[in-house]
Amino acid sequence: MLRPFFSIIRRSFVSNMSERQTALVARGLPKKEPIMGVQDIIVVASGKGGVGKSTVAANFACSMAKLGKRVGLLDGDIFGPTVPLLMNIHCEPVLNDQNLMIPPQNYNVKCLSMGMITPSEGSVIWRGPLVMSAIQRLLKGAEWGPLDVLVVDTPPGTGDVHLSLSQNVPITGVILVTTPHSAAVQVTVRGARMYEKLNVPIFGLVENMRYSTCENCNQRIEFFKNSSTNSLPHKLISLPLHSHIAECSEIGVPIVIKYPESKYSNLFTQLAKKISEILDKQKGR
Ligand SMILES: Nc1ncnc2c1ncn2[C@@H]1O[C@H](COP(=O)(O)OP(=O)(O)OP(=O)(O)O)[C@@H](O)[C@H]1O
Ligand SMILES: [Mg+2]
Repeated sequence: MLRPFFSIIRRSFVSNMSERQTALVARGLPKKEPIMGVQDIIVVASGKGGVGKSTVAANFACSMAKLGKRVGLLDGDIFGPTVPLLMNIHCEPVLNDQNLMIPPQNYNVKCLSMGMITPSEGSVIWRGPLVMSAIQRLLKGAEWGPLDVLVVDTPPGTGDVHLSLSQNVPITGVILVTTPHSAAVQVTVRGARMYEKLNVPIFGLVENMRYSTCENCNQRIEFFKNSSTNSLPHKLISLPLHSHIAECSEIGVPIVIKYPESKYSNLFTQLAKKISEILDKQKGR
């Protein structure tokens, strides 16, 4: 006779507790707020370092700009910023009258990076909370808008930068980048899981450096015959290893700008068109 009564009491106690706990947890988290004037935020990420995230982020941003979008590129790599080098921007951002940084622009892309703010030599020790506040400053302390897309290049892994981004701003989607070797694929799968847990949509995968094409006989040379990226989200493009891509990073002119007619530029155009289609579909356009 008493059982239902107790179970009712217990159920309501448990549900009240969890509501209270949820409220407490939510109070401790920063509030997710859009960046003024920015429609979509696209994060370029990978579990692994050196797989081509920054190269993809810079070329994707320029390709979106070539499609007529208003584009920004935020360097989320606080420890090893590369956007100033890749985009050939070596000046400090100036402040507007509201004390917001005005991102310098090149190749029709507005760019911002810790590399533009901190001195290039000299060591800066960044701990978790400092990294988070640096990311927040780059996201919210700048006059980004009006932008159709803000592309965010990130450091490898699933650390403070990724958490800070997903807690502070609504990310429209993530482009994953990996080379096909098993060690990179495994950690990139882990990165993908993290974004899934945070309810951030994953747009797909850029597979980098699986193959190269012989300049003389046009034969395709496969570097990773037995490895697979099938455990990762669907492939958007597969980018070959090519000296022009590396050379363009070194001189600060993305390949889509330096060699706009090349097949490599064409692959980045395909990527930009695919992502634009996804964004249009999401908005019912
Ligand atoms: N498809 C490619 N062909 C030739 N070189 C490439 C290709 N992709 C990237 N690279 C070169 O590989 C190096 C690493 O690329 P990049 O800096 O984009 O990687 P990353 O994932 O951003 O690295 P990190 O984890 O350090 O941020 C660079 O010198 C870049 O020019
Ligand atoms: Mg990088």
